[in-house]
Amino acid sequence: MTTFAYFNKFDMTKVQVRELVFEKFISREEIETAVQRVADDINRDFKGKNPLLLAILNGAFIFASDLMRKITIPCEISFVKFASYSGTSTTLKVKELIGVDEELRGRHIIIVEDIIDTGITMDKLLTDIQAKQPECVKVACFCFKPEAFQKVFPIDYIGMSISNDFIVGYGLDYNGQGRNLPDIYKIVKE
Ligand code: IMP
Ligand code: MG
Repeated sequence: MTTFAYFNKFDMTKVQVRELVFEKFISREEIETAVQRVADDINRDFKGKNPLLLAILNGAFIFASDLMRKITIPCEISFVKFASYSGTSTTLKVKELIGVDEELRGRHIIIVEDIIDTGITMDKLLTDIQAKQPECVKVACFCFKPEAFQKVFPIDYIGMSISNDFIVGYGLDYNGQGRNLPDIYKIVKE
């Protein structure tokens, strides 16, 4: 079976990722506008501060690379790796696969995440990072699902707030597949 079948190669209103069908939800143009808005805010807020972007692998790698190229002030990037999802839902447990190996003391940190759902992953990372005594920690995510959010930390930069539906594309996956879709798709409910 083809694991990544395009239903309509030309407009790609629907795609199949593994056995699930998804429909177009956020276009690449809307994504670009949202990323630019987040970058503009960061350029304004971190002027003269040399922030360290800390991107969460795997999902945030595409958002982080687009965002970083729109940041016009001096900045740096590093990566951590956490996993909490299995299939289309959270396991409610967060596994740390690659930890923070930078000196964070006194730095201005911007955590870069693809999506905040329950908030459990970010909550854990925030605790780990605060313990390393940075000057400040801000959170930037591309998508935020307010209806699923269970935590209380502030989210400083949000690309888009979305409904509580499972999505793929723009770095987001369904069991490893679908990250390479340039637009974002949401699951079609039967
Ligand atoms: P949280 O800990 O529940 O906030 O989940 C955060 C992580 O779950 C994200 O970094 C994603 O990797 C994954 N995730 C949450 N919602 C989705 C989704 O709709 N599609 C794909 N991955 C998701
Ligand atoms: Mg992720």
